[in-house]
Amino acid sequence: PRHSFAHRAQKQKVWSPQYRVQPQASFKVAILGAAGGIGQPLSLLIKMSPLVSTLYLYDIAAHVKGIAADLSHCNTPSQVLGFTGTSQLANSLKGVDVVVITAGVTAKPGMTRGDLFSINVIIVKTLVEAVADNCPGALIHMISNPVNSTVPIAAEVMKQKGVYDPKKLFGITTLDVVRVNTFVAQKKNLKVVDVDVPVVGGHDGITILPLLSKTRPSVSFTDEEVLELTVRIQNAGLEVVEAKAGAGSATLSMAYAARFLESSLRALDGDESVYECSFVQSDVTDLPFFASRVKLGKKGVEAVISSELQGLTEFEQKALLALKPELKASIEKGVTFVQKQA
Ligand code: NAI
Repeated sequence: PRHSFAHRAQKQKVWSPQYRVQPQASFKVAILGAAGGIGQPLSLLIKMSPLVSTLYLYDIAAHVKGIAADLSHCNTPSQVLGFTGTSQLANSLKGVDVVVITAGVTAKPGMTRGDLFSINVIIVKTLVEAVADNCPGALIHMISNPVNSTVPIAAEVMKQKGVYDPKKLFGITTLDVVRVNTFVAQKKNLKVVDVDVPVVGGHDGITILPLLSKTRPSVSFTDEEVLELTVRIQNAGLEVVEAKAGAGSATLSMAYAARFLESSLRALDGDESVYECSFVQSDVTDLPFFASRVKLGKKGVEAVISSELQGLTEFEQKALLALKPELKASIEKGVTFVQKQA
């Protein structure tokens, strides 16, 4: 008898993801802002993860239910459910292991991340309050900008609710790492998968500091190359905003950068060699939050790696000094915002 391609493929156990990759774990993930430019491709990528059993998609936009229906037809192991409206927010968070917050507005041409502050901080505060009430033990992955302020906001909200665990709060800076790895590979004609450059500091303009001297495999850069690459990475978001000409900011590369989520899930699942750069509470500098490489474990941040901040070049040392006041101000702005509302 003639069988459909899918049927034949399933018999051969080659095509269907559930045959090719057996689920090893069953984590529940919620994506808040799932109907957005980042939320949608991110949800698709997470739907492909063998480590996820349940994917909850929440957005104020009602068509998030359609996005969930659409994704639910993919024959991968996880179950997908859509939630909309504030009345359904709590249910979208029940029993969840990881919450990704990508709700908010994006940078338009001429806008800085600072301009996003007033709108996004209110959205983020409300969502984190719901996380504190419904899944206080979950890892929080903060994508909503300005990350330099939204992460301290989340920390303050969790503190006010008495459930703050600094090891479980992450500002997602992976896109900076993804970009620098790509740009360095292009510039130095390296295989892109081999390139690894840590990015420290924060996630806005000059607070983004790629440590090019720590590039693996070891390569040398001229002073001009260091300056050009550093400035390009700091402004790469703008490259996309301008090219999209008012139709949004980086969404697909950001969704890809949510490989951070896959990394977190692997660490939750017991993989003991997972490292990513992230903006976390940290004492590697005199600032309360700082992005650097962290070791991920079953309970979130297992260790913050400070060694990469040793032996910096003069350029990097100066850039680090220069970024600190700006990063400090953004952190304080977030903290003050929550404290004023209390
Ligand atoms: P978008 O405008 O396409 O999507 C945002 C989504 O959030 C929309 O579906 C909207 O309905 C939803 N939303 C708004 N208020 C909400 C609320 N109170 N509750 C639930 N959902 C709500 O924006 P896009 O491009 O997806 O960007 C989202 C955020 O990510 C922005 O803040 C942006 O600046 C930030 N971003 C962060 C990056 C990073 O590297 N961390 C990179 C690029 C963007």
